[in-house]
Order: sequence, then C-alpha cells, then structure tokens
Amino acid sequence: VSELLRARTPDPADAPALRWGVVGTGWIAERFIASAQRHTRQHFQAVASRDPDRARPFAEAHGIPDVVDLDGLAAHPGVDVVYVASPHPFHAEHALTAIRAGKHVLVEKPIALDAEEARTLAEAARAAGVFCAEALWTFFLPRWDVVAQVLERGDIGELRSVLAEYGEYLPDDHRAMDPGLAGGSLLDLGTYPIATISRLLRAPTRVEALGTDNRFGVNEQTGLLVADGRGALGVGFTSLGSSTPTSATLAGTRGAIELPGPFYQPGPVIVRTWADGVVAAFDEPAIGHDGLHYEAAATARAIAAGLTEAPERPLDESIAFLELLDAVRERIGVDFGAARAG
Ligand SMILES: NC(=O)c1ccc[n+]([C@@H]2O[C@H](COP(=O)([O-])OP(=O)(O)OC[C@H]3O[C@@H](n4cnc5c(N)ncnc54)[C@H](OP(=O)(O)O)[C@@H]3O)[C@@H](O)[C@H]2O)c1
Repeated sequence: VSELLRARTPDPADAPALRWGVVGTGWIAERFIASAQRHTRQHFQAVASRDPDRARPFAEAHGIPDVVDLDGLAAHPGVDVVYVASPHPFHAEHALTAIRAGKHVLVEKPIALDAEEARTLAEAARAAGVFCAEALWTFFLPRWDVVAQVLERGDIGELRSVLAEYGEYLPDDHRAMDPGLAGGSLLDLGTYPIATISRLLRAPTRVEALGTDNRFGVNEQTGLLVADGRGALGVGFTSLGSSTPTSATLAGTRGAIELPGPFYQPGPVIVRTWADGVVAAFDEPAIGHDGLHYEAAATARAIAAGLTEAPERPLDESIAFLELLDAVRERIGVDFGAARAG
C-alpha cells in the first residue's frame, strides 16, 4: 500500500453537548444512547415510551432522568433534539410531532415509509426551521468520508458500477417478520445497499427488481438493478433469510473501491487501480454499532452551527433514496398495506 488514507471526520468527543430526548426503548435506542454516552458529551434527558412504567428500568440503566409519553417529550423544555427510534411506520408521525413542537429531529432509517412521507417531513422541518436528518449512520462514519475523498480525487476514474449487498438471517420472532410494522428485508437491511446505490448513481433512469416473500408474508429477498443516464449500473441484493458477506464494491474506469463486509459499519476501505494494484487503504477498529455516536456528534455540531440539515445526509438524498425504494417496491409488488392500515 503506497498511501494510508485519513478521514476528515472531527473528533466526536469535541461536539457540543446537546440535550436529547429519545422515542422508543428498543434495540437501536439502547445502542445509540450507549455509544453516544461512551464517546461524546451528549446529554440524554428524557425517553418516550408507550408504557412509561415499563420504560423506567431502561431510563435508569442509562441515567436518563425523565420517562414521558410522545407528547410529553415534544413539549419537554429540557430537550433540544429528539432521536426517533420507533419502528418504520411511525418514523414520520413521531418526527412530525416533535417538529411541530419546535424540536430538532434525528430519525432512524428509513426516515419514512416512502418518498411522499419523506417530502412531507422535509417540508414540515423546513417550515419550522428545525434540523431534520435521517439517522443513516453509515454515511456519518469516517470510513465513508474516506470513500467520498477517493471518489472526489478520481483514483478510480469514472464510476461505472456499484455492487452492494446485505443479507442477514433474522429469527422468526424479529420485528421484520411483521407485515404490520412494514417488515421484510427492504427497510431493515435493504436500506443500506439501496441507499448506497441511490447516493452514488444519483439519477436512476431504469430500475428492475425481483423479490420473493417468506411464510410470514414479508419480503424475504430482493435483487435489484439500477441504471443511470450515463450507463452506470447499480446491482443490489438484500435478504433476511440468509447471511451474506455484506460487502460493497464501487468500480470505475481506472480502479475500484472495495468495502469488505459489513460495508455499512466501521471498517476498512481498499483502493485498487487496474494499473498498480492496491494503491491506498484506510482502516479503523471494527467497533460495529458502537460507531453510532458519529451521527449523534454530527447532529450536535450541525444544530449548534445553526444548520437545519446534516451535510453527511441531506434530506434530498433521503428523499431520492426512498424514490428508488418506491420504484423497487413497485416492481416486486410490496406496498406496506398492512402497516398503513394500522
Ligand atoms: N442504524 C441501525 O443500525 C439500526 C439497527 C436496528 C434498527 N434500526 C432502525 O431503528 C428502528 C427501530 O428498530 P429496533 O430494532 O430498535 O426496534 P425495536 O427493538 O422493536 O424497538 C422499537 C421501539 O419503538 C417503540 N415503539 C413506539 N411505537 C411502537 C409501536 N407501535 N410498535 C412497536 N414499538 C413501538 C417501542 O418502545 P416502547 O415499547 O417503550 O414504546 C420499541 O421498543 C427501525 O426503524 C430500524 O430501521 C436501525
């Protein structure tokens, strides 16, 4: 390797301390809070639960003083920013409640069920003048800042192909098996490859997809193909029925960027050119979900600087990603009807 790459990501420990409220007490809320508390100065003031009695041990375990309901969180004078960590169908609704009360929001991925909901959310945030971003933590990681640098400086030439896949075997009792919670592989796992293809191809002109359902009536696996106007192609795959390497490759006319799996978590970047082999590389500890604090720090910095969007994940990118996801769903006949009816 001739060059060791460096990320420009500021030290999360230096981000200004904001006062957070959290919606939800589940898997990701737990990890986000723990990671932010370990690596940043963020203060967690309140957590909103459907059942405050049940949520009290969660709050105590994380040193969070107040347990409230959603309206109580939106109205809480000691909360600057709300992290929405409820299941997919409630992201937009819960975020809108906070936005209308004048709170900044960081909303778990996907930011909404579809592009239309995401546009409504973006308009509401812009009208209220508050910060709003999708918590697609991948794009806040140092690893992905390095990817952006390599693409910008042209090491791999013109980008022609984006290959991205994420398969993870999920057990029968996982939330993703519930059609009423917009289950299936697409929103939990497929978000990462599809958002990656959407970010890098930008203006898809053709989308093809094939999907199969499992016995719970949710999408088990989907393969998708996306072309942009310059003939670049994105190839995506997602499955909740089997685990795969979960890697990504961004290939261009002169070389490729390789992201060994899991590509959406902290980990290495390898830059290879056709002429010279591996020319540059980046490495960072594979800390998994303990990398969630980068998005917390970036949100705090952006809000303190008076920004209403995250440069790492602008709202128009979240909307474009959901437009692509909508097109994929249309091809494979997934409409999340059970989640919308609920
Ligand atoms: N960034 C990542 O790596 C990552 C990883 C996993 C999940 N996620 C995202 O985070 C979101 C939550 O996923 P999760 O795995 O944390 O789910 P989870 O474990 O089921 O937790 C969701 C929480 O939302 C609250 N909630 C509010 N309304 C609800 C409702 N009607 N039904 C069920 N729960 C409700 C619940 O807290 P109360 O019972 O206290 O109300 C529940 O604990 C998903 O949208 C997912 O895409 C992101």
